[in-house]
Amino acid sequence: MMTNLVKSDQKSDDVIKVFGGKPLEGSIRVRGAKNFVSKAMVAALLAPGTSVLKNVPEIRDVQVVSDLLRLHGVQVDVNGAEGIVTIDASHVELADVADVDTLSGSSRIPILFSGPLLHRLGEAFIPALGGCRIGDRPIDFHLETLRKLGAKVNKEHKDGIHITAPDGLHGAKIHLPYPSVGATEQTLLAAVLADGKTELSGAAIEPEIMDLVAVLQKMGALISVDVDRTIRIEGVESLRGYTHTSLTDRIEAASWASAALATHGDIFVKGADQDDMMTFLNVYRRIGGEFDVDDNGIRFWHPGGDLKPVAIETDVHPGFMTDWQQPLVVALTQAKGLSIVHETVYENRFGFTKPLVQMGATIQLYKECLGSLPCRFQQRNFEHSAVIFGPTPLEGRDIDVPDLRGGFSHLIAALTAKGESTIHGISLIDRGYADFRGKLRALGAEII
Ligand code: EPZ
Repeated sequence: MMTNLVKSDQKSDDVIKVFGGKPLEGSIRVRGAKNFVSKAMVAALLAPGTSVLKNVPEIRDVQVVSDLLRLHGVQVDVNGAEGIVTIDASHVELADVADVDTLSGSSRIPILFSGPLLHRLGEAFIPALGGCRIGDRPIDFHLETLRKLGAKVNKEHKDGIHITAPDGLHGAKIHLPYPSVGATEQTLLAAVLADGKTELSGAAIEPEIMDLVAVLQKMGALISVDVDRTIRIEGVESLRGYTHTSLTDRIEAASWASAALATHGDIFVKGADQDDMMTFLNVYRRIGGEFDVDDNGIRFWHPGGDLKPVAIETDVHPGFMTDWQQPLVVALTQAKGLSIVHETVYENRFGFTKPLVQMGATIQLYKECLGSLPCRFQQRNFEHSAVIFGPTPLEGRDIDVPDLRGGFSHLIAALTAKGESTIHGISLIDRGYADFRGKLRALGAEII
């Protein structure tokens, strides 16, 4: 059965009105992780067989990757209701560049097609992507990794980057200057079928990456992960299709947890997994949020009384995820006292606080590192630390969604605020939050 993962009526529904000030209460289910599912779908390209991915969320990013795969001649069946994606990559062909370009949008997934396409076809074409477009900086680690594995990268093409591997890929010693999630995945996807051994030091070890390693192992790959962030990959001759159930989306789970705290609510997040959320749960408890873990998920609630301020620094795993930061900042506007957030993963992730301030929050941004973690943005001109003073009542207003997580944070702020808010560009949230309108209604939110 083939269905679109995001229903067409949602696509046109780009504005939402929120009548806030009511606690969110009830139970919702969170499925597989956006930031794993898309990569596992790309991994299926490595094997000339059929792969089955389960617990797939109904989000726009899955639809985009499905379409990208189809453009490369791969058969993709999506059963949105069941959350099952079946991928038959027996046949793979080069896609038309213009077609890929229209689909890529702000997604960075096409760069991860490089390794699999080099193995299957000997060449790959990566279009200039949306948003900040492909330039040296955002994918420099990816390109350096591919070069070390023997690929030739030609950036002269006007529409993007042409990558070839005339003599195939071979194992290499690679060190990442920063534990980049994408560059680690790039190395895994390119090295599993390379000739010889690859040693990747300074790798990222996020749970989503470990689930990708599990998928690749099911496919026949030889990969080991050392405690010092070194990943060793022994290239194999061929891989086969896999059947795998995705780990839960820990970013979505934490977003709903933050919504419970900010709105004085009580939300049971079915599917939430304690192991992958330990760092978040510690912070949640320090703030004064309550949670209860059982076999089916985690219940998050505001126990009443004052929330406490915290100082947090975002970091790579097992640190506090950058993607948890934005929704939690909204809850911190309701804590009593000064909270500090030092963002060390992205240089510019506090733009979303401006509408919060217009809603009544007191948030001051700083270029200084307000924390002790080593930070690439020290002495640079980026406002990457935030001081939040609370509690401040929030008031509804008009908001434009800036990005996926920032947008969901604005939604939480609107639900927390007294009065009416109108949020524009809301469909951006469909990229990573499955049926969030349905879930909000199930939790008693007043939205139209
Ligand atoms: C993944 O992005 C996620 N996206 C992000 O989730 C997440 O925030 C991020 O990992 C960190 O956990 C997907 O998985 C699709 P990185 P990725 O490479 O792989 C710099 C969300 O909202 N860098 O670990 O692109 C980069 O600029 C999204 O779900 C380079 O300088 O992240 C950033 O500062 C947002 N050169 C840092 O490294 C490179 O070649 C971490 O990026 C690559 C990265």
